[in-house]
Amino acid sequence: MAGKILVTYASRGGATAGVAEEIGQTLADRGIDVEVRPMHEVQNLDPYSAVVAGSAIQGGAWLPEAVQFVQKNRAALDEKRCALFLVCMTLAMPSAEKHRQFVSAWMEPVRKLVSPVAEGLFAGAFDLHKVPSFADRLKFRVSMLAGVWPTGDHRDWQAIDAWAASLPPLLGV
Ligand SMILES: Cc1cc2nc3c(=O)[nH]c(=O)nc-3n(C[C@H](O)[C@H](O)[C@H](O)COP(=O)(O)O)c2cc1C
Repeated sequence: MAGKILVTYASRGGATAGVAEEIGQTLADRGIDVEVRPMHEVQNLDPYSAVVAGSAIQGGAWLPEAVQFVQKNRAALDEKRCALFLVCMTLAMPSAEKHRQFVSAWMEPVRKLVSPVAEGLFAGAFDLHKVPSFADRLKFRVSMLAGVWPTGDHRDWQAIDAWAASLPPLLGV
């Protein structure tokens, strides 16, 4: 019998958590045993046959705690199939398709640690009020006023569902 799938994520503002929940729901709708957990709650990968891991992007990179999760669990992940995803605002910009290759490169440090069977690149959500640093808020406000930086929720649930629906054979379930 196929084992349990872990969908795990690192999120600061909640958008990536929502993407992870959606991926988990899509898998569960297909009769797959799935658990969705923030990375900081995951101590041990033994109960899972495969892992889907994702992070919000900040400063053109996975969140540090997400990279640390992969580093810490590298040996266990080597023995399982894993899929990776990221959530960012660059893919919410006009003509986002032109940026996909650029965005995909942000996965490279994680690709050096594990060999994913699939990668999902998703537009996220941005709320200036949730940015804790004053300096960052100022920077984003200027970019927003210049029309460069998008705000609001740009998560494309159809794209997320389609990616999640493609995972079972790749994850061996
Ligand atoms: C401090 C900060 C830095 C960010 N840096 C980037 C970035 O370099 N590139 C990008 O495309 N999005 C960037 N974003 C946008 C986030 O990736 C996006 O809002 C994402 O949906 C956040 O997910 P979360 O709510 O799960 O934290 C940044 C957001 C914040 C708050």
